[in-house]
Amino acid sequence: MKIFPQYDLSALNTLSLPGRAEYFCRFNTTSDLLCLLREADERQLKVKVLGGGSNLILQPQVSGLVIQSAMDGVVKLSEDESSVTYCVDAGLNWHQWVLRSIELGAYGLENLALIPGSVGASPVQNIGAYGVEVGQAIVAVRGVQLSTQQWMSFSQQQCSFSYRDSVFKQQFNNDFLITQVVFKLAKVFEPQVSYAPLNKMAEQALVNKLDINAQRVTDWVIGVRNSKLPNPAETPNAGSFFTNPIITKSQADELLKLFPDLPVYPLVDSLGARVKIAAGWLIDQCGWKGRSLGLAKMHDQQALVLTLKPGACQQDLVSIQQAVQADVMAKFGIQLRPEPQPFR
Ligand code: EPU
Repeated sequence: MKIFPQYDLSALNTLSLPGRAEYFCRFNTTSDLLCLLREADERQLKVKVLGGGSNLILQPQVSGLVIQSAMDGVVKLSEDESSVTYCVDAGLNWHQWVLRSIELGAYGLENLALIPGSVGASPVQNIGAYGVEVGQAIVAVRGVQLSTQQWMSFSQQQCSFSYRDSVFKQQFNNDFLITQVVFKLAKVFEPQVSYAPLNKMAEQALVNKLDINAQRVTDWVIGVRNSKLPNPAETPNAGSFFTNPIITKSQADELLKLFPDLPVYPLVDSLGARVKIAAGWLIDQCGWKGRSLGLAKMHDQQALVLTLKPGACQQDLVSIQQAVQADVMAKFGIQLRPEPQPFR
């Protein structure tokens, strides 16, 4: 196991921002991880955890020891008539795990195909797409609290999952290293195709007498994502750059009087008191879809995705972020909040 000083992180973040870690190390085993934590403690280096680098805004200089899991095991823990439970190492690529789960006949993650990042990062922001959130399938999250070096396991309830949020983003923010995630998946596939584009494809499949199986739904999801979202390997981006704002139902009603087309979605956990509105629509209405500022651009197919051009730096990102936020505030009185977190 080698600890690298002044390690270039530009290839390890999907926005391709320039930046270096004071120290960087990848670990392959739990005993290596323990050694690293001990060493960081002795040298008084703060430990920073890097996953797939798809939900962060890299800062030019990251102090301390940046660590990344290279562990990617998948172990079956148990099964009953209807479900099967797998323990998955945090370092496995998320999309690889989705594909693997389908091969294993374990269903429920199809709608989350192609989301960039690692398994370990998935519970932190409770990744979600096309009507499914990962928290629905997670029964435990295991890892180490960095400040106390204590091993902990969180049940689904203790994870406090909600829209793009969890205990790991709140109370344990930057203080927890997820090493494993435990998923309980179904043995019988049940398509979740309520989301508009998938629904249309499902109807078409029924007309054509095609079987709606897990692989087919996964292919649809991949197709929809590829048509709207830029591939980070070609165009640096971090998926949705802002979260969809959560506002009160009465606020939304006021906005709807002025903007009847505003997309408004119910929030499952708020009993109708609060709703979610589409940030991409707000940004689009302000004329930012496909518009550039310096070396940054809001994506042509999805205004919610901030993309960077070659050579872009943190200032390019901040400038467009602030310009978009100011325009949305001026037109709708809504404060947009970035989804990726600064990594410093
Ligand atoms: N819209 C526009 N113009 C745009 C973009 C969107 O008018 O430029 C409208 C759409 O027509 C639609 C609404 O806004 O009526 C919502 O758009 P979309 O269905 O594309 O979904 P989203 O709310 O913008 C969320 C997630 C995505 C996820 C999709 C699909 C967030 C922050 N983003 O986007 O997640 O793939 O739903 O479920 O919740 C990600 O987190 O990186 C991500 C891509």
